[in-house]
Amino acid sequence: MTQDELKQAVAKAAFDYVESKLEDDMILGVGTGSTANFFIEELGKISDRLEGTVASSEETARRLKSHNIPVFDLNSAGQIAIYVDGADESNAHLQLIKGGGAALTREKILAAASKEFVCIADASKMVGVLGEFPLPVEIIPMARSYVGREIVKLGGDPVYREGCVTDNGNHILDVYNLDILDPRQLERDLNQITGVVTNGLFAQRGADILLLGTADGVETRRAEPLS
Ligand code: 5RP
Repeated sequence: MTQDELKQAVAKAAFDYVESKLEDDMILGVGTGSTANFFIEELGKISDRLEGTVASSEETARRLKSHNIPVFDLNSAGQIAIYVDGADESNAHLQLIKGGGAALTREKILAAASKEFVCIADASKMVGVLGEFPLPVEIIPMARSYVGREIVKLGGDPVYREGCVTDNGNHILDVYNLDILDPRQLERDLNQITGVVTNGLFAQRGADILLLGTADGVETRRAEPLS
């Protein structure tokens, strides 16, 4: 199976999961990226049965609306029942790296505001130790050099993502060469740097369920407990 076919398979599995739990007044959170886009296509089939969604990016909002799916502002939506989104990496504890599509801040807000976070990914995203994928950090533009120097002190090699402006009007540093042995601690340390909006580690609030697309089918994984 190609990577896109695996992404399609997990998107369909997430759709089946959401449909099985669908209730009146239920608000869904919808993520950003190619895997989330396949999920949006599935969701379009039941647009008339959906109370509404909250989108993690302007691009996702546009796609949802093109399928006649109502999109609400989070402030008027209240708690989200289920948030479905992809990831750039996951470990066995379902701690994630996200932000390859530069939507990490809104994605993190939706994950925090949701009862349940269902992550959808193809098997290539599963890793032993997070950090092979460069960790995205959203920063206030004027703080770029300062934040970069502070990240070097933490052992990372930050690279400015040229030409990228987030939906919040900010910039992204992609941090290479991090061996992320304690994702929760690094998530906190990075967020302590003045000028950082947030970083792409989803460790304090990781996923509740991972639907992983493999050559043998879609596996449902739950977080292995932290020792
Ligand atoms: C966007 C993200 C995406 O979930 C992540 O980049 C995975 O993308 P894809 O589904 O295209 O592989 O975090 O900010």
